[in-house]
Amino acid sequence: MKNVCIIGYGAIGPIHADALGQVESARLYGVCDIDPEALKRAKDDYPQVVCYDNYDDVLKDNNVHSVHICTPHYLHAPMVKKALEAGKEIICEKPIAITREEFEDLLSTPGIEKVALVFQNRLNPCAAKLKEIVDSGELGELKATKAIVTWCRDKSYYESGEWRGKWATEGGGVLINQSVHTLDILCYLGGEVMDVDANMYNYSLKDVIEVEDTCTARLKYKNGNVGIFFATNAYSYTNFPQIEFVFEKGIVRYMEQGLFVGDKKMASDEMAVYGKACWGVGHLGLFVNYYDKGEYFDIYSAKNTMETMYSIYEKSLNGGKIQ
Ligand SMILES: NC(=O)c1ccc[n+]([C@@H]2O[C@H](COP(=O)([O-])OP(=O)(O)OC[C@H]3O[C@@H](n4cnc5c(N)ncnc54)[C@H](O)[C@@H]3O)[C@@H](O)[C@H]2O)c1
Repeated sequence: MKNVCIIGYGAIGPIHADALGQVESARLYGVCDIDPEALKRAKDDYPQVVCYDNYDDVLKDNNVHSVHICTPHYLHAPMVKKALEAGKEIICEKPIAITREEFEDLLSTPGIEKVALVFQNRLNPCAAKLKEIVDSGELGELKATKAIVTWCRDKSYYESGEWRGKWATEGGGVLINQSVHTLDILCYLGGEVMDVDANMYNYSLKDVIEVEDTCTARLKYKNGNVGIFFATNAYSYTNFPQIEFVFEKGIVRYMEQGLFVGDKKMASDEMAVYGKACWGVGHLGLFVNYYDKGEYFDIYSAKNTMETMYSIYEKSLNGGKIQ
């Protein structure tokens, strides 16, 4: 039985804790947070939990086998490196690194291949079915991809955490945080991306955030295919992305939590959901795979996505400024 300590008990930490309750080979052992209120919440939720207010104390504790890094983005890469040095198992929330340099540094860090990344939407039934269609070739060759992500993240959201909305601590806006999951579907299933054209905007939150609330990109895949990507946090209603994969023999649409080929529904994501429905259903599956089956998404499986994401930022930003 693996003893897990969750690092950061804000919005997503409790989702990890809840899902761990259904994993056979691991259990919630500890929670670490620098905010006493967060630790109090953890203790109220799980009275038996060991609380730490300092990450180094977790790493020194031999009773802790595994850490789940659920802290603000800028802490992920340094926390991963420290946990590797301490010999802990690691599951890291996205994004594992906020810059290309930080990501490359991680790629050359000893032991990095053992770190599991949280791209839980890959395990959504619709995404899994889409992967099956891509891999089987049943609809012929893939010709193009498209994704539209319209989320709502307003002033109050960005003011809910000091780290949000800033280059130094969040590393970007709608792209690196909310829509990276959808970009991941285009990259993980759509093929290797060689180049991008891209632009970024701050339409609605100019006085609130430094980073983009909207991003557009044209992905150029290695095989000559083109992908179109649009993401915004400036929409007030639905949070579900729309994805389209065009194959020689048919178009697959992933929308409204369903996967459709023409009119035929091939899969549905409407099932037990942890946290917000838009976070998908995959955290539990991810932990079951990791602890009970020894399967996980490693950093190499995310290289195409992460490098495409960094390229979109690099292409869009002119002297670090957005439009
Ligand atoms: N996979 C998903 O669908 C999904 C969904 C939501 C959030 N996330 C990711 O989870 C991470 C956390 O996001 P959130 O929305 O929960 O943020 P949050 O701000 O709500 O929570 C972060 C917590 O980390 C704590 N913290 C900060 N510095 C710390 C330190 N040095 N040591 C220990 N704890 C520390 C904070 O006090 C806070 O409680 C981010 O990487 C985010 O992108 C992923």
